[in-house]
Amino acid sequence: MPRPPPRLRPEEYEPDEDGLPRAIVGAWVKEKHLRLQHYVGATRAARRNYIGPGNAGATYIDLFCGPARARIEQTTEVIDGSPLVAWRQSFADGVPFTSVHIADAHPQLVEATCIRLKSADASVHEDVGKAASVVDRVIARLDPYGLHFAFLDPYGLKDLPFEVLRRLASLKRMDMLIHVSVLGLQRNLKPFARSRACALDSFAPGWRSAVDPRHIDANARARVLAHWRDLLRSLGVEVADAIELVRADDNQPLYWLAFAARHPLAIQIWERISQIDRQGRFGF
Ligand SMILES: C[S@@+](CC[C@H](N)C(=O)[O-])C[C@H]1O[C@@H](n2cnc3c(N)ncnc32)[C@H](O)[C@@H]1O
Repeated sequence: MPRPPPRLRPEEYEPDEDGLPRAIVGAWVKEKHLRLQHYVGATRAARRNYIGPGNAGATYIDLFCGPARARIEQTTEVIDGSPLVAWRQSFADGVPFTSVHIADAHPQLVEATCIRLKSADASVHEDVGKAASVVDRVIARLDPYGLHFAFLDPYGLKDLPFEVLRRLASLKRMDMLIHVSVLGLQRNLKPFARSRACALDSFAPGWRSAVDPRHIDANARARVLAHWRDLLRSLGVEVADAIELVRADDNQPLYWLAFAARHPLAIQIWERISQIDRQGRFGF
């Protein structure tokens, strides 16, 4: 018998007015969504060339989709989650994604996002499962000549094996906006360096060559991230310099948004729309 899915934790999710789950999130999430929304808006002209009859299509891919609705903690403010933010922006611009591909490890969240996207008139394809196990199914549905944009927003480094990026980057026109959990890396680098196996082995294979386990200093984290960027480059994609540092309300660094694409124009667009915070750079 298949195991029932884990229950959504009440400290992280609650029912929305439509009865479907919504996440409870920090206010900083709005900044992350704003970046996503701006990128979708700024790429509308490029998308226009791919939509319509006879064209290969322009897709949005969200492998960590969540429930597509959230409430800001300690407030009554309810906001859209990433799949709806991206879809609604493309729709409002009059250049809607031809299809939206969503996935999440939790089936209830995929179901909620699917219902919400469909009621907003999106053409949705859904998968349930970890990103590493669904990515090939998602890619198989994409037109190799289309324009694709993937938002990868895991909770931590362990949920984003490099293999997922390698698979996505095999498509010629795949732009990727990637959440890199700085907090996890900052806290755990020493124990990671001492361990035989850890989350970094799949996130950034070969990372041990970039750091000396006896000298985990303030620059070690930057070296691991530089190694990760080199791995991406080896796939033929460029990683934008403008990497956003998102801070929590108490000003603690939370994560970077890394942007990777093969096409220089996509990198230029990201750099133009993102606010460059010097402290937020990888320090290359
Ligand atoms: C930060 S939340 C996503 C929030 C969403 N992108 C948004 O902005 O509205 C991360 C999501 O990843 C899912 N998740 C955790 N591990 C995963 C994995 N290995 N593969 C796919 N989804 C995973 C969780 O269930 C959760 O919904």
